[in-house]
Amino acid sequence: QTGMFTFDPGFTSTASCESGLTFIDGGEGILLHRGYPIDQLAEQSSFMEVAYLLLNGELPSPGEFDDFQYTITRHTMVHEQLKTLYNGFRRDAHPMAIMCGVVGALSAFYHDSTDITDPVQRKIASHRLIAKMPTIAAMAYKYSIGQPFLYPENSISYTGNFLRMTFGVPAEPYEVNPVVEKAMDRIFILHADHEQNASTSTVRLAGSSGANPFACIAAGIACLWGPAHGGANEAALNMLHEIGTPDKIPEYIARAKDKEDPFRLMGFGHRVYKNFDPRAKVMKETAAEVLETLGVDDPIFDVARELEQIALNDEYFIEKKLYPNVDFYSGVILSAIGFPTTMFTALFALARTVGWVAQWNEMISDPEQRIGRPRQLYTGPTMRDYVPLGSR
Ligand code: SDX
Repeated sequence: QTGMFTFDPGFTSTASCESGLTFIDGGEGILLHRGYPIDQLAEQSSFMEVAYLLLNGELPSPGEFDDFQYTITRHTMVHEQLKTLYNGFRRDAHPMAIMCGVVGALSAFYHDSTDITDPVQRKIASHRLIAKMPTIAAMAYKYSIGQPFLYPENSISYTGNFLRMTFGVPAEPYEVNPVVEKAMDRIFILHADHEQNASTSTVRLAGSSGANPFACIAAGIACLWGPAHGGANEAALNMLHEIGTPDKIPEYIARAKDKEDPFRLMGFGHRVYKNFDPRAKVMKETAAEVLETLGVDDPIFDVARELEQIALNDEYFIEKKLYPNVDFYSGVILSAIGFPTTMFTALFALARTVGWVAQWNEMISDPEQRIGRPRQLYTGPTMRDYVPLGSR
């Protein structure tokens, strides 16, 4: 169950990685976190419990869980001066641009937890990152709509706190909808960690140089933003809206199959899963539950399900082993809850911070770990002598 990095065909980089956090069997559509199947965790656990599991290796006892949640709630506020940083952005800045900037700047505010050689500081930095991400993401949203920031309310759950900071206003009390809270918490679980994906590898590579954890997580956020990776949830919903109605689906399926057309079906395909993505199954069930409970009749969900059916019966997608991934249905739920598409990847980053932090801790606490140094297949010119400018 060790994962080996292969940066180039035939080369195994010096940044080979062994990890005990997450196991994926792409052929069987299996995803385990510390041995527990993702569907069981999504159905029966909570995001905070999964965070404890990924960080510590075992499910917590009730006492351990209370202590962990208490610690996390004590780190949910951000330094007041961080607000000044937000005011430096344009109101229409993409929330991921704000997340990259603000998280990267955290080491300037919390330099007492940047010494990676000190296990106590590593633990404090880890808790700070997990605790503050909902506050930072909610502030990015509030800033974009010109509403005042809300401080965290530590008497409610981690996910309920995030929903309140995002959708609540000072002028009136905010009641967390339990259906929305459960769906949001389940979405966070489904995005928590995923072995050595591009953004986690970015965090590990940055961390292997000894960079502080806040800078490493900011690097992961930057990588996740790409539409081939975490940006796919935003791109997938935009694609479904562009398709608009089921009768337009064949046109987009044809484009996805056309080698001359760079268009790809967003939310479909995966480097590792060559069978269904187990997270997509849970996401699809959750979408149906949330839409029904909230009484939202979103025709886009019908387009998504119809598109999935057509693609799964198309020989191109069958041959290429392309299935819906975690990003295909998540946007339908997030949209029903009230998030704009620009916030989708920020939510992915919020959840994946748990995995990034757990993977960073696993790497940095290994006394044998060395700086990552991927190799290359050189394809440039062979050695040759310099020709002075006057002779060219
Ligand atoms: C995430 O790594 C992770 O674990 C990531 C992630 C996580 O939790 O961290 O799971 C999150 O990033 C999920 C993926 C989100 N991205 C998208 O949904 C964007 C659309 N998907 C594609 O861009 C693509 O499927 C990737 C980027 C996800 C994977 O790219 P690969 O590795 O190149 O895909 P592949 O090798 O399996 O492709 C095989 C073939 C290729 O055609 P050929 O070169 O063989 O002719 O299938 C084609 C690809 O062009 N293909 C698609 C396609 N995805 C792959 N064709 C049309 N539509 C698609 N979506």
